[in-house]
Amino acid sequence: MTLKRVLITGATGFVGLRLHRDLSQDFQVIGTYRKDPPGTGGVEWIEFDADIHAPGDLIEESNPDAIIHLLALSRTEGCSSSPDMARQINTDLTLDLARIALNSRLRFLFTSTDQVFDGKKGDYSEVDRPHPTGVYARTKVEAEEGLCELFRNVPDLLTIFRLALSYGHSDELHPGPVGWIINSLTEGLPVNLFKDEIRSPLYIGDISRAMRQTLRNEYSGIYHLGGRDSIDRHSFGVRIAEKLGFPTDLCHAQSVLDYPGPEPRSPNCSFNVSKFIQTFGWTPMGVEEGLERILEDN
Ligand SMILES: NC(=O)c1ccc[n+]([C@@H]2O[C@H](COP(=O)([O-])OP(=O)(O)OC[C@H]3O[C@@H](n4cnc5c(N)ncnc54)[C@H](OP(=O)(O)O)[C@@H]3O)[C@@H](O)[C@H]2O)c1
Repeated sequence: MTLKRVLITGATGFVGLRLHRDLSQDFQVIGTYRKDPPGTGGVEWIEFDADIHAPGDLIEESNPDAIIHLLALSRTEGCSSSPDMARQINTDLTLDLARIALNSRLRFLFTSTDQVFDGKKGDYSEVDRPHPTGVYARTKVEAEEGLCELFRNVPDLLTIFRLALSYGHSDELHPGPVGWIINSLTEGLPVNLFKDEIRSPLYIGDISRAMRQTLRNEYSGIYHLGGRDSIDRHSFGVRIAEKLGFPTDLCHAQSVLDYPGPEPRSPNCSFNVSKFIQTFGWTPMGVEEGLERILEDN
């Protein structure tokens, strides 16, 4: 089947901003915005505020062949302080949209997170059992489970990407989980970074590449999508500072043991991306290459 119209929910967010631009070269992209549509040409914009608008109307109006559902309450702190809203947005809305998609036999692509794991083991592959320790991750696991149940008889229509910590350019409102480091360093401010929290940082352009390929080749199932390097947050910050020409001593090392937040941190959520590499035929960029790309993207 040739997919032509692709609806991206949350297309104004950190991932969505890059994704809608990249995919609009190959597909007719329809993006949702809540307040102001970005000025990107070649994309149809539809206002969608989950608190006001109905998912059924969104799908009727956009008439897509496939849906990439990015829209989420994506910050862990926001989710732990508003757990009901987190469940409504991250789980209930996801399943409402998916039910409508399923009725019309639309492809459904969903983004989950490396934080579905408790981080005690690291090198997680798709056969490892999720064990979320916070509200955000729990709502994502519930969405994943609900989606797998819904699409049980038509699994080819469903693709779930568990994304690692992603980095790249975005806008001021959506800096992504790494943007604040770059913003602080740019202003000469110090950043406190965990030296004992390991992730597999993912260059944002690789998300677009994987999504494009998924739509073209109709890959389905669950995939761990992370960069080829596993690295602790502090070392990653130092690499960013070195690459972008900031003093590395602005990066202060901290331990997760000193974290004062309400939920435990997951120390090692690094990904094993063998299944992704086998299916997609390429390896997501490592830190060095990804940071080079950021400089080129400027
Ligand atoms: N970035 C990462 O490193 C990472 C890692 C793992 C998983 N993920 C997942 O990937 C997806 C995209 O992440 P992201 O970093 O791009 O998130 P983000 O920057 O927070 O963007 C979230 C998007 O959802 C929209 N949104 C939130 N609440 C809404 C509501 N009530 N009604 C309508 N729109 C609403 C936002 O609209 P506004 O423009 O109005 O804010 C924005 O477009 C999420 O599902 C996230 O959980 C991301």
